[in-house]
Amino acid sequence: MTRLEAAFSLIDDCEVFADIGCDHGKLCKEVLDSGKAKKVIAADISKDSLKKARLLLSDYSDVEFRLCDGLDGGKLVADTIAICGLGGLTMIDILRYLPQSTLVLGAQDHLYELRSFLSENGYVIEKDFVIKDGKRFYDFIRAKRGKIEFDRRQLEYGVFCYTKQPVLKEKLEFLLKKISAYPPTKDNINKINTITELLTWQR
Ligand SMILES: C[S@@+](CC[C@H](N)C(=O)[O-])C[C@H]1O[C@@H](n2cnc3c(N)ncnc32)[C@H](O)[C@@H]1O
Repeated sequence: MTRLEAAFSLIDDCEVFADIGCDHGKLCKEVLDSGKAKKVIAADISKDSLKKARLLLSDYSDVEFRLCDGLDGGKLVADTIAICGLGGLTMIDILRYLPQSTLVLGAQDHLYELRSFLSENGYVIEKDFVIKDGKRFYDFIRAKRGKIEFDRRQLEYGVFCYTKQPVLKEKLEFLLKKISAYPPTKDNINKINTITELLTWQR
């Protein structure tokens, strides 16, 4: 599964779909082609990125282009908001307006902080999985307004870390090998113990 396919799989039918940091506009195109949304907002902070999206989506009428930072000061409203390919901390900053929307998030890093932010700010993570696209692992999350508490391991490695997932197993084995090669600090030993225990759930 590619990153684009993973993000697309998390988008349900809706009235308005927005892609924040749309860049080339490929996800918006998939959504428009599929008819999943009646209207699409392609948003990006960069003029050059939005130019690429305008080019790719030039034949579509139900699309609005927005040159803005994140949620445009809270003015950007949509039923489903995707943010993919950005760092987790940037996502947290973008989400500070706490939109009522369904969120589709493909963060590059700081997954613990992102899941904690969602959990502490009234979102429930209803889908959470990892894919391998090329040589890299990518986490994808779908969250909606609601409340469920998760433990520290779920916030770090995915809320379904106690459910068998072949790609998660591969990622945990990869992390175990990587961290085992580092100096055995207290933090690294804790991580190794956590991952080793989580791997028992993946047998
Ligand atoms: C690495 S690209 C990811 C593109 C696409 N979403 C994907 O997943 O392939 C990041 C894009 O996010 C945009 N971006 C970065 N920070 C942003 C922000 N605060 N608000 C809106 N767009 C932002 C960048 O200009 C760039 O086009």
